[in-house]
Amino acid sequence: MSIPFRESDYSGMKVLVVPDAWQASLIAVESILKVIQSAQDERGRAVLGLATGSTPETVYAHLVERHRTGFLSFQNITTYNLDEYYPISPLDPKSYRSYMHRHLFSHVDIAPHRAHVLDGTVPEAYVAEHAAQFDHWIEADGGLDVQLLGIGRNGHVGFNEPTDLPVEQALRLATRLVELHMITRADAAREFGGVDHVIPRALTVGVASILAARSILMIATGAHKAEAVACALNGPMTAELPASLLQTVADKVTWVLDEPAAQGLP
Ligand code: F6R
Repeated sequence: MSIPFRESDYSGMKVLVVPDAWQASLIAVESILKVIQSAQDERGRAVLGLATGSTPETVYAHLVERHRTGFLSFQNITTYNLDEYYPISPLDPKSYRSYMHRHLFSHVDIAPHRAHVLDGTVPEAYVAEHAAQFDHWIEADGGLDVQLLGIGRNGHVGFNEPTDLPVEQALRLATRLVELHMITRADAAREFGGVDHVIPRALTVGVASILAARSILMIATGAHKAEAVACALNGPMTAELPASLLQTVADKVTWVLDEPAAQGLP
């Protein structure tokens, strides 16, 4: 199915705008399938960086459907998820491991040892080592063919939260344990039954590994994302709005927006 979209360019990044979130997810799926196809043609396998949250749920539903109908196998696909609360059990329904199991892993033929999610059960003394290993595994797997991203209302990517670091330092941020920003916690409040119950820390793939992906696909839907989207696409590059750092690797970034998320763009 081909979805009509409006294409433009902001700060060198490709931006595709469609009327609604459903169409945005279809465009994203088409793009992911193309990446999988060309990576498999070139190297016999594909490595995907995945996100959680509400935005990619329909993307995973479409991928599961492609698998169910025999058009997509995950046998030669490796995945790395962006983040995980810390500490958390993978069995906790609020964990991102559990989210991935519910929305994708349990419905497709991915090998369990190729479906990587940062481990919320690693003792704190070993967290730095685990985080460094995660970056190392991504590199050892040949790097990510595509990194799928969502954007937080505060402009975060993964759980790389707004910071006052200079841009050059922010670009070098590795995978690590972070404190969640108040807006991130507020947005997770419903899932956790109140803002005070949100686990305040998380493991996140760093800005450096995200930007190292061979392609980056950002999906943003809904009017509540419009301000962050407009600043990231059209504003100055600043670590106070981490998604704006995508401008440094503009030529490999595609944004897929629905009209409400695009409403702040000139
Ligand atoms: C989740 C992640 C986050 C989300 C972002 C948007 O793995 O990395 O950066 O992508 O918070 O979340 P939703 O899609 O729920 O609006």
